[in-house]
Amino acid sequence: MPTVVVVGLQWGDEGKGKITDFLSSQANLVVRYQGGNNAGHTVVVGEEEFKLHLVPSGVLYPGTVCVIGNGVVINPGVLLKELNELNKRGIDTSKIRISDRAHVIMPYHPALDELAESSRVVRKIGTTGRGIGPAYIDKYERYDAIRMVDLLDKEEFDQRLPEIIRIKNKVLNQIYGHRGFELKVIRDEYLEYAEALRPMVTDTSVFVNQAINRNEKVLFEGAQGTLLDIDQGTYPFVSSSSPAAGGACTGAGVGPVKINQVVGVIKAYSTRVGAGPFPTELPEELVSKLRDGRGREYGVTTGRPRRCGWFDGVIAEYSVRINGVNNLVVMKLDVLDQMETIKICTGYRYRNSIIKEFPASLKVLAESSPVYEEMPGWLEDTTQAKSWESLPVKARDYLNRISELAGAPIAMVSVGWRRDETIMLRDIW
Ligand code: GDP
Ligand code: IMO
Ligand code: MG
Repeated sequence: MPTVVVVGLQWGDEGKGKITDFLSSQANLVVRYQGGNNAGHTVVVGEEEFKLHLVPSGVLYPGTVCVIGNGVVINPGVLLKELNELNKRGIDTSKIRISDRAHVIMPYHPALDELAESSRVVRKIGTTGRGIGPAYIDKYERYDAIRMVDLLDKEEFDQRLPEIIRIKNKVLNQIYGHRGFELKVIRDEYLEYAEALRPMVTDTSVFVNQAINRNEKVLFEGAQGTLLDIDQGTYPFVSSSSPAAGGACTGAGVGPVKINQVVGVIKAYSTRVGAGPFPTELPEELVSKLRDGRGREYGVTTGRPRRCGWFDGVIAEYSVRINGVNNLVVMKLDVLDQMETIKICTGYRYRNSIIKEFPASLKVLAESSPVYEEMPGWLEDTTQAKSWESLPVKARDYLNRISELAGAPIAMVSVGWRRDETIMLRDIW
């Protein structure tokens, strides 16, 4: 099936980068459809590790064309630096295309992100500080946003920027006591970025749809995860974009009937970076078995230690439903190799009832406690397994239970960060 959305089913960092890279060996096009450089996607090739923030994780295959879609918010300085670093490592980035409708992150966006976060007292979100929220706020406010097409139009940019800077500086000065930004400095810096990016900017919806019509293999790469989705996530502890599979349509300019399948990437346990509800979270003194060792659960973008906990079947069912997942990819099974017993959450106990559907109310979540099922660990190294049959029986039982709770079949199991530490159960393409 030639068009696939790869979507995270938890709070991000599920291993989408590894799976996108893996599936990209056969893809013609890989399209990022939302988020920005809040994302951090790791791809390991041999002894080399690549950490990608804005560039789609298909970039490491020379034959794969990468697209940054209209739903992404682009920090041009960060993008150029990332492209430059990839070039220095011998990766060809000449085939990358950027949507003319994508919104631009300006210097006041990260500043406003940090200032807003630090002024919050009770409900800090724990953002990455990359200006993602403020950039999407401007997009939806429809007044002081700049799209790639505006940045490339020097006349338009020069006409609009003074008014935008005036307004932003007023907010920065009067609300936060920040000295503000100088018009000329931003103008000169961004016009330089515009020239560097100009050859890559195009109407990417035309580009992507033409590839689909030629029956090419197109992969839509989600950043973040379903529980960080602005509509479907643990609001307000979410990001400001639409990582859920539906976001691929709006964020890439593709009709829903053009999407053939949805691959849901899920860890064999759970993690979360930043604040917000996390029903199966383990207390700090118990997380090290998951976070350290092979788990390496530290944020790619901010370096923050990730909060860790058991697999949550309520969330798995929720995310499979929200995204219409028809193939699951279970990641990081090897991290559980040393566990004597493994817990799986099958529901939430709330007052006198058991909740099976993920609730909207954070109050209900806070008052709920997970109902766990215990399964015996397999206490064997799974990293060398190359097939379903070569996995320990107890590991297969665990995976079958995950699939049952999630309500979707497993297509792949990942047992290590390397490309060859991947078990295929069903064909994706
Ligand atoms: P993404 O944001 O979803 O792309 O995920 P990240 O790259 O932020 O985090 C996933 C981390 O897990 C990275 O360090 C990967 O190299 C690593 N990883 C991916 N798959 C596996 C796996 O099966 N086992 C182990 N131990 N690590 C993995
Ligand atoms: P990838 O693509 C994990 C989290 C932040 C914070 C919240 C809002 O690597 O899976 P933002 O800066 O987006 O306004 O922060 O979302 N967050 C992520 N957590 N993985 C990510 O991306 C994330 N991108 C944002 O930690 O809690
Ligand atoms: Mg990540």
